[in-house]
Amino acid sequence: MSHQTVLVLDFGGQYNQLIARRVRDLGVYCEVHPYNKGVEKARELQPIGIIFTGGPNSVYLEDSPRVDPAIFDLGIPVLGICYGIQTMAHALGGKVTSPQNREYGKTDTYYDTQCPLFRGLPEKSVSWMSHTDYVSQMPQGFRCAAHTDSTPVAAMECPERKLYGLQFHPEVLHTENGIAMLRNFLYEICGAVGDWTMGDYARRSIQEIREKVGDKKVMLALSGGVDSSVCAALLSQAIGSQLTAIFVDTGLMRKNEGDEVEAAFGGREINFIRVNAEERFLSKLAGVTEPERKRKIIGEEFIRVFEAEAKKIGAVDYLAQGTIYPDVIESGAGDAAVIKSHHNVGGLPDCVDFKEIIEPLRLLFKDEVRQLGLELGLPDYLVWRQPFPGPGLGIRVLGEVTKEKADLLREADWIFREEIAKAGLDKSINQYFAVLTGMRSVGVMGDGRTYDYALALRGVTTTDFMTADWARIPYDVLERVSNRIINEVKGINRIVYDITSKPPATIEWE
Ligand code: XMP
Repeated sequence: MSHQTVLVLDFGGQYNQLIARRVRDLGVYCEVHPYNKGVEKARELQPIGIIFTGGPNSVYLEDSPRVDPAIFDLGIPVLGICYGIQTMAHALGGKVTSPQNREYGKTDTYYDTQCPLFRGLPEKSVSWMSHTDYVSQMPQGFRCAAHTDSTPVAAMECPERKLYGLQFHPEVLHTENGIAMLRNFLYEICGAVGDWTMGDYARRSIQEIREKVGDKKVMLALSGGVDSSVCAALLSQAIGSQLTAIFVDTGLMRKNEGDEVEAAFGGREINFIRVNAEERFLSKLAGVTEPERKRKIIGEEFIRVFEAEAKKIGAVDYLAQGTIYPDVIESGAGDAAVIKSHHNVGGLPDCVDFKEIIEPLRLLFKDEVRQLGLELGLPDYLVWRQPFPGPGLGIRVLGEVTKEKADLLREADWIFREEIAKAGLDKSINQYFAVLTGMRSVGVMGDGRTYDYALALRGVTTTDFMTADWARIPYDVLERVSNRIINEVKGINRIVYDITSKPPATIEWE
């Protein structure tokens, strides 16, 4: 696609993806690649600028990551951040020193506002430092552009060679004006024009898909999750009826989910196939209580249903997948770069007769996917859908899954979600759902004794879903949810709220 690109070279730091996000938010497309592919990628991508990320190493260690110094002679502006400034200084003949005390946290920093990175910004503000080493002697031709009380070179520049370095992290919000510094780098130094917007992306992407697909057929497994829904919306605008989207309703989806997906896609000019397979799934799950076994059965059955539908259509040229950028980023930490493989539905490609995979979202971060979805006119409820496990309510009903239990859980979960949305908490709590425990206990309702299920509510805040904290949902909201569920869902007589973080617990119960 023809847009300006910034190349972010990953030296293994913790903020690498954040840097990429910031650059994109500033309207410039960027890609993250391992540091040791720097020169090769710069020649291939012809970026308008290069950013070196931070990293955990010291430049003097024998095996510390080093970029081929040819990168400094390409005439492309380079910005080194934290470890990035140190490796730049080291490679160009400067000196890096390890002091006794490390500088960490918010630090008063003094800037030379003649330097284009700091143009238009205050001469003194707070920056976020997180380093042990620092540049004690700049390479020839460089001048100091910022300092703190304990770091003589908090920033350096060599405008003639378009090389810049920052000892602190402009990408984190603790650095006042950090984003403005990145904007200056992109727009003042690299000549960015800001051609990365979701509107542009949608138009170009639609054009590209049309050219690639021609008059051939494309098939997509539509789960109703954000990624596959946006993928379907994009393909439907690009190629209309050449797309067949297969949506398998397992009977283990949340309330209204199947109908919502159908409402969003059933009316489009695509071949939308909804397979109602509730009975098929439930009969396979009858009598099964072990969670891993349930997952396997559901995964396998999904493939069988999809396969049967695909067979009816016959050979297709392309299988589309909603793979997104975090799934394809290679890590620069360690020389053995690992590429995560990702399939929306495990194993699916093996069972379908197709020639090539197309992945129109593989350049996008999750929230860019959401923006694109809005751009393409998808309804809010699809675009803002929270993560939902592939096996769905099949794992959130603990123990054996029956229709009765799935229906109870669907109703209770619906009430919980409705109340969270009413309380305006649906964007700040990253995932929230109900779990039907296998436990029944005695209760009293009216004048009668009950012996019904206990339902667990779970709400978490998290950024990456790898770790999570339990959400502090206000008591009055929990009270409303509890009252409504007990009153409206017959078969549940006790509600508990899960107050464990991850780790040690997981987000799902299963
Ligand atoms: P756990 O329970 O491991 O879940 O803390 C982390 C996140 O992953 C989601 N999850 C899944 N997502 N297919 C998915 O696409 C699955 O099989 C699956 N299992 C768990 C879970 O909802 C949480 O957001």
